This record gives sequence, C-alpha cells and structure tokens, in this order.
Amino acid sequence: MRIVLLGPPGAGKGTQAVMLSEKLGFLHLSTGDILRENVKRGTDIGKKAKAFMEKGELVPDDIVIQMMLDTIKSSGKKNDFILDGFPRTVYQAKKIDAELKKLKLAVDIVFYFKTSISTVIKRLTGRRLCPKCGANYHIVNMPPKKQGICDKCGVELYQRKDDSEETIEKRLEVYENQTKELIDYYSAQGILKELSGDLDAKEVYKQLAAILA
Ligand code: AP5
Repeated sequence: MRIVLLGPPGAGKGTQAVMLSEKLGFLHLSTGDILRENVKRGTDIGKKAKAFMEKGELVPDDIVIQMMLDTIKSSGKKNDFILDGFPRTVYQAKKIDAELKKLKLAVDIVFYFKTSISTVIKRLTGRRLCPKCGANYHIVNMPPKKQGICDKCGVELYQRKDDSEETIEKRLEVYENQTKELIDYYSAQGILKELSGDLDAKEVYKQLAAILA
C-alpha cells in the first residue's frame, strides 16, 4: 500500500508517519529528512538543496523526484510506503504517478491534514528535535521528560533552522502557492481523505487507523 501525507508545514505529517510506520511496518519516506541528511553529509544533492531549504523555498522538482525514485527503488520494502512531504507540486505528483505506474505501484490513499495557521505557527516554533535519533518533541504539546533533553538518547535537543518565524511565513506562502493545488489533483482521483490536523496527535492517529482499517 502507498500512502501520501499532505498538509501545511507543522500539520503533523512527520509525527503521524512515524506512528503509522511503526504500527504497519511501512517504510517512512520523508523528503525533508532525506534532504537534511544529504545537507549534513555534504552530498551533491545536499549542496544544491541547502540554500532553498534555509530560505523555506522548494528544492527544484527534478532533484527531489530523482532522489525519491532512487530511494524507493533501492528500498527493500518498496511495495508499502508512506510519502511524507512528497509530492509537493502537481508536477512532482504527475511524474511520480507515471514512474510508480511503471513499477506496477500506485498511490492508494492521500491523507490531507487540514490545519489552521495559528496551530502550525505554534507547533513549528515549539518543535524540538533530537540530533541523534531524530525524535520529534514540542515544548508544550509533547515535551521531553527533562526539558531540552531527548528521552531516548539523553542528548540536547535542537531547533530546525527553518523553524524561525520569518522562514515559517515563507514556507506557508510556498504551501499556499505551490502545494495546496494537490488537494484538487488527488480529489479528482477519488483517493483524498480529509482530516483535521488541529486535533490532538492521538486523535488524528485514531482517525487515520480507522480509515485504513
Ligand atoms: P519538511 O521537512 O517536509 O517540512 P514541512 O513540510 O514544512 O513539514 P514539517 O516537518 O515542518 O511539519 P510536519 O507536518 O511533518 O509536522 P511535525 O509532525 O514535525 O521540508 C523542509 C524543506 O525541505 C522544505 O521547506 C523544502 O525546502 C524541502 N522539501 C521537502 N520536501 C520537498 C519536496 N517534495 N519538494 C521540494 N522541496 C522539498 O509536527 C510539528 C510539531 O508539532 C512537532 O513539534 C510535533 O511534536 C507537534 N505536533 C505534531 N502533531 C501534533 C498534534 N496533532 N497535536 C499537537 N502537537 C503536534
């Protein structure tokens, strides 16, 4: 099964993808995580992507599409995966649809997390991450047991550079102008399911699991 998670920055796509992949054993493919890993390792993709990501702009389509196709093809579990943050433009969606068709795979369901701007701003400015295991916290909604420290690794949490208020504003503008039209694209295919991303994470998960069941 192929699942796409769609929604604005901070809608909770990554949080739900981790919960779903743990429950279902599906591969979790987050373009943001893969790009950040490339930036960290200083790969060619990372060098090309860095400036776009820091400004809150989309990385050019062709770089992202090729990167995701290579990741899907090289994964051992290529039949069951969750795409988190990809596709992000209609061009990316059309390209990946065509490529997945060749592999006899198709996107089965798209969960759209409809989320208010005030929610996403609070979530992104309060998000903290573990540099070692990638665990995702929120200073108010999902705080670690000890302030600023990862529960699992005991190391200091950090804030993503693009979670500054100025860059969040840009990311939301990019979402409105370039990504939101995917709602119509997938609705027309009859595979879009809308949920409220404003709800508590456990409630969102409960709704996702019920639809999948
Ligand atoms: P990416 O990393 O994908 O960022 P994003 O889409 O902006 O999404 P986020 O990771 O910010 O939010 P999320 O929805 O996953 O929320 P999360 O679960 O973390 O992309 C970063 C950059 O990479 C882009 O700007 C672009 O440059 C580039 N890029 C990525 N994909 C690309 C593509 N396809 N094409 C081109 N460029 C691309 O939750 C946020 C916070 O809220 C956390 O602290 C969490 O603990 C908390 N939280 C989550 N859910 C809830 C809840 N229900 N209730 C309360 N708190 C919650």
